Amino acid sequence: MCLAHSKVVDEFADQAELPPFAAGLVDTINKAATAMSLSIGHRLGLFDAMRSGDAKSPAGWANSLGLQERYVAEWLGAVTTAGITYVDDLGRYSLPADHALFLGADAPAGSMSSMMQWVGVLAPVETEIVRCFEKGGGVPYSAYPRFHEVMEEEGTLTFDADATLGLVTGLVERLEQGIDVLDVGCGRGRALRIFAERFPNSRFVGYDLSCDAIATAREKAADLPNLRFEVLDCMKMRDERAFDLVFTFDAIHDQPHPETLLGNIRRAMRDDAVYIAQDIWAHTDVAANRDHPLAPFIYTISLMHCMTVSLAQGGVGLGAAWGEEKASEMLAKAGFGDVAMHRLEHDIQNAYYVCRG
Ligand SMILES: C[S@@+](CC[C@H](N)C(=O)[O-])C[C@H]1O[C@@H](n2cnc3c(N)ncnc32)[C@H](O)[C@@H]1O
Repeated sequence: MCLAHSKVVDEFADQAELPPFAAGLVDTINKAATAMSLSIGHRLGLFDAMRSGDAKSPAGWANSLGLQERYVAEWLGAVTTAGITYVDDLGRYSLPADHALFLGADAPAGSMSSMMQWVGVLAPVETEIVRCFEKGGGVPYSAYPRFHEVMEEEGTLTFDADATLGLVTGLVERLEQGIDVLDVGCGRGRALRIFAERFPNSRFVGYDLSCDAIATAREKAADLPNLRFEVLDCMKMRDERAFDLVFTFDAIHDQPHPETLLGNIRRAMRDDAVYIAQDIWAHTDVAANRDHPLAPFIYTISLMHCMTVSLAQGGVGLGAAWGEEKASEMLAKAGFGDVAMHRLEHDIQNAYYVCRG
């Protein structure tokens, strides 16, 4: 513990006497630390194993997953004192059923431990970000080895194919008949895989700058003849009137030049085409986001990823909290005469812009 920290703790030894702001800071460090432990438990399958409801000693849980007992014991200390798991008088640890609903890769109610992985994705670039504050520039995508893996996993929480397609009347029927579909900044191609499997008469293409993400996308879609992927810097997209439906999933705000991309997408669309842009929902004005339930998370992930990767490509650094006002303005400027913003019940994080020429 650093000197400054220990002084604070001495001064306010009895936590009940901490002024609310200082107590909040203690709560913040506890929650940040818990997020790391949640991420570790998620990655190791500990929550999925504990969903059985069994109560076991640290050695019992370690043995059931082939893990090191000392590490499992310390981890159980962290998540138990955080109120995630319980310990009984015999030193046996268990995960209550109502917590198990939200934890682990196979969480029945949707994994909330999955999003905790962002802390570990972002933490390693902290020193580079500090340097960028002083010297400018950005941190490139290549500095985040687990980014695409976590993005793909996390996306399963927010992506709902039926709800997304339901935003446009008659779209499912058109996909059933056979149309040309593009996903720009497709990452590992999760959304396209689901669509291509469901609509074999339609043709699907995914573009992404990342060779690694496209290699994984190709591997995972090897058995889908109507789906192909290309490594492409979408700033240089040259398609003209080639697609009936275009998607971007969280892929506008971290582009180097989002306005160029929106113009490229507009040009790539046929006359009766639709563009569905899923992107982070916020207001453009910081003050208007004070009550946004995820605002600190969105601004921090933007600072440590979305904004900085754009700046690293010589871009404008639009940022994840570009907001619905700015988005509407930019979409209109790119030539979309008809833009409707939607929110979907299952997804508190994103806005869905349905755009036509
Ligand atoms: C936030 S991720 C979203 C990925 C994917 N759509 C998803 O929902 O999982 C943004 C994606 O845009 C890609 N990207 C960033 N700059 C790009 C560029 N200039 N051209 C093409 N893709 C780019 C990144 O590699 C990344 O996969």
